[in-house]
Amino acid sequence: MKKEKDISILAIETSCDETGAAVVRNGREVLSNIIYSQIDLHKEYGGVVPEIASRKHIEKINQVIEAALDKGGIPLTELSAVAVTYGPGLVGALLVGVAEAKAISYGAGLPLIGVHHIEGHISANYIEHVTLEPPFLCLIVSGGHTHLVEVKNYGKYDIIGRTRDDAAGEAFDKVARALGLGYPGGPNIDKLSKEGDENAISFPKAKIAGAPLDFSFSGLKSAVLNYLNVHERKGEKIVKADVAASFQKSVIEVLTEHVIEGIKMTGMKKLAIAGGVAANSSLRKAVEKACMECGVSFYSPSPAFCTDNAAMIGAAAYYQFQKGTRHGLSLNAVPNLKLEDI
Ligand code: KG4
Ligand code: ZN
Repeated sequence: MKKEKDISILAIETSCDETGAAVVRNGREVLSNIIYSQIDLHKEYGGVVPEIASRKHIEKINQVIEAALDKGGIPLTELSAVAVTYGPGLVGALLVGVAEAKAISYGAGLPLIGVHHIEGHISANYIEHVTLEPPFLCLIVSGGHTHLVEVKNYGKYDIIGRTRDDAAGEAFDKVARALGLGYPGGPNIDKLSKEGDENAISFPKAKIAGAPLDFSFSGLKSAVLNYLNVHERKGEKIVKADVAASFQKSVIEVLTEHVIEGIKMTGMKKLAIAGGVAANSSLRKAVEKACMECGVSFYSPSPAFCTDNAAMIGAAAYYQFQKGTRHGLSLNAVPNLKLEDI
């Protein structure tokens, strides 16, 4: 039932290869969350093709929004705002969502709120953990980002660790491609790893001198590619499941060690994970175990809220709305938008 002070927001997400729309009430209650995934279209190219992504967003966006509004059960006129991811992401893909949100904002007379995609990922944790409030530490591991962030307050972030090269998800995707597992690599490596021996091969774990919270995954990726090349050249048998499991173990150990270090350095009592790679079953278990050992509460969104979706954008938008954030119709897509700039 709608209460007078309820804030319901229509949220739109088109930053990469998922066309998403959701209606979220008071930042925590997902009334609808519709996702049209383009993964099957991009699969045959081994990764996201930006042109195809933009075109498919244009084709699907109205349908997805209509379905979200329908299922959400709140008429457009009773919504409090329309929110949209305006960066970071693929510029053409972002533009589809931003243009659509501006049109709805203008047409329905609703305030427009631009949301940072990573703030969305972090906010996915608010959906199922209704008591979770800042401050907390958040490990964000997606296809484009690997950040350790101190969430000081709603909308207030301090990045205390970041990747120097590849993002964790990027490493999963590249290693999966080398193993012939197809796109997106993360879920395929996650699955295949369960059949492999994670101790079969010893892959490196990069540490960055003087920056204990920063990450680097390109050396690990190269080590895996090198292992595959050497074995292929010598005609030696490659056990793909062992390579996948050993690679995944290395990534997870690095991420977990950084989380522990971050907890020690900040003294935070709550740790959340977010982003597509946070859907990884072994990572979730490892970080939860580390948190338990450190006496820290662990939070994670369900896997469906880890990968790109619009509900997380609606959750983030609620707190921006409460802070008074309003983007006018001059809002533009910012493909390299920094979390520090919001
Ligand atoms: O957050 P996301 O959906 O999109 C970005 O904002 O980038 O993350 C996508 C990334 C991809 O690299 C994908 O391979 C990875 O998340 N991913 C996974 C799993 N599910 C998705 N990585 C490891 N294990 C998974 N189960
Ligand atoms: Zn994402």
